[in-house]
Amino acid sequence: MDKLVIEGGYPLEGEVCISGAKNAALPILIASLLSDEPLNLQNVPYLQDIETCIDLLSALGVQVKHKEASCLLQANHVTNFDAPYGLVKTMRASILVLGPLLAKYGEARVSLPGGCAIGSRPVDIHIKGLELMGAKLIIDKGYISATTAHLPNKKLQGCSIFMDQVTVGGTENLMMAAVLAEGETILENAAKEPEIVDLGNCLIKMGAIIDGLGTDKIIIQGVSSLKEASYKIMFDRIEAGTFMVAAAMTGGKVVCKNINPEEMESITQKIKESGAKVEVREDSILVCGNKKLESVKIITAPYPAFPTDMQAQFMALNVVAEGVGEITETIFENRFMHAQELIRMGAEIDIKQNTAITKGGNILTGANVMATDLRASASLVLAGLVAKGKTTIERIYHLDRGYEKLEAKFNILGAKIKRLN
Ligand code: UD1
Repeated sequence: MDKLVIEGGYPLEGEVCISGAKNAALPILIASLLSDEPLNLQNVPYLQDIETCIDLLSALGVQVKHKEASCLLQANHVTNFDAPYGLVKTMRASILVLGPLLAKYGEARVSLPGGCAIGSRPVDIHIKGLELMGAKLIIDKGYISATTAHLPNKKLQGCSIFMDQVTVGGTENLMMAAVLAEGETILENAAKEPEIVDLGNCLIKMGAIIDGLGTDKIIIQGVSSLKEASYKIMFDRIEAGTFMVAAAMTGGKVVCKNINPEEMESITQKIKESGAKVEVREDSILVCGNKKLESVKIITAPYPAFPTDMQAQFMALNVVAEGVGEITETIFENRFMHAQELIRMGAEIDIKQNTAITKGGNILTGANVMATDLRASASLVLAGLVAKGKTTIERIYHLDRGYEKLEAKFNILGAKIKRLN
């Protein structure tokens, strides 16, 4: 298994091009299932999760041509409606094939994702929504088997769905299902994340009729089929945020390019509060570190509030910044595993229920640490960049799932990171 060895203590300087968003690319790749016509995507990030998603779509019968950041998909010969456990367990977003398969083919069998490192992550809201649209779903031996065979023309029926909790995946699954349903579907208490807006905009380019994207009420008029489309995937907010924190922590000067600063506001705000200098430009953000950073207080919540996917990185910042910091995680129940690893590097962190209190002002020293999930791994990289000596991070396959060419991008900015096989 690959490891990263980081020699800490080098400020980062320069420009970094932010890649396409993993969390937009995954549902958009899966949206190809809804159409017989080609879907031509650009700015697809090169990541393990994208490869897993393409493997899953290929296994279902989608023809995929993937070259660098382009991906051409055509789903006119889908013959298999089964998403097996082997693929779903490695990537939870695989559950997103459920809505499209059911809407287009009236049949789907998808493994339940089960628990994962950051919490139990149920899919009850996805299931309940599809049931309200008339589908019959049975859970047996760890699989969801779903059918619309009993419905008029075997089609899902538009309806009003109030989601009990704001869920990104649930909103995406139901929005995709509703695109080909009979009549109007209203999704209430919908998630407002920019990645959902991106998926919606791609669906609109494919011929879907969707209103209210970016609000908590999304209205979809079902259509009978979709058409050929070309779409450029949005930038990765979390990758951009990770580089911004790195610039602040190392006292460097980094421009994150190819982004939409408006969608970075909750993160930019916290970088400013930490005392780093931020210059917001039209499609980039410059962050200049300050020798004296201040710890910040964060409460994670659905967009436009502070994203759970950025709290681990800010915990690394709080550890080395001055003063007591506080991070409260409200989305996932078990998302502080990076704290134990940071403590092994010299951090003082006290976890009280879902809040991590950092004492601040810690001088970190390099150690052997273990990545436990995607964003936790990123916080260890950030800690390694400022630690004294060498930090070795094991199990970095987590990082490869979600960060494109991470060490190469950091090294161009002046970091000293080596990948060992
Ligand atoms: C997505 C993101 C992930 C991010 C998360 C929250 C992708 C591929 N992943 O994950 O990076 O951390 O949003 O912003 O886009 N829940 C239920 N029942 C459901 C569905 C969700 O109780 O049916 C709960 C979850 O357990 C969690 C909360 O709702 O506590 C939010 O989860 P959700 O927004 O669905 O996360 P994902 O879509 O899995």
